[in-house]
Amino acid sequence: MWIINARYDSPDFFETLDRELDSLITGEPNLVANLANISSWIYHALPDLNWSGFYLWNEADGELVLGPFQGLPACIRIRPERGVCGRSYTSGQTVRVDDVHAFPGHIACDAASRSELVIPLKQGSTVKAILDLDSPTPGRFSDRDAAELTKIVERLATRLFPAP
Ligand code: SME
Repeated sequence: MWIINARYDSPDFFETLDRELDSLITGEPNLVANLANISSWIYHALPDLNWSGFYLWNEADGELVLGPFQGLPACIRIRPERGVCGRSYTSGQTVRVDDVHAFPGHIACDAASRSELVIPLKQGSTVKAILDLDSPTPGRFSDRDAAELTKIVERLATRLFPAP
């Protein structure tokens, strides 16, 4: 049984979350299993989310395709020029949107979503997947959330997508 000890209101939240996610995937090489558990862990550790999950880059189709997630069913395919996820994919950068209604091209999968944080997972300089977090609260994600989660996800990506 897994127990989530990371408390969002604790000063060491991100440090604990980092350690917990690291041990969550240790010893398990299956990508889908690891992405599923990471999406669940984040969904339960971070308050005020309505969606947490991954889109994986599909080279053959030239699109992001829905991967493991928590939340309502979501759009399955996202072209790289579309949405917040596409912006993160094409820029290779974390994209934070405080008000999704003000983001041109935002793709509304769950009408409840009001703010969004998307973080790319890279193998070297190639984006292999993105982590998408949605919240029903405008401005849910702080600068610190974005910076700390980016660091955590960058570290996870080196283990999930090791250099060939
Ligand atoms: N809102 C995203 C689409 C994915 S869902 O939120 C799960 C976007 O604009 O790319």
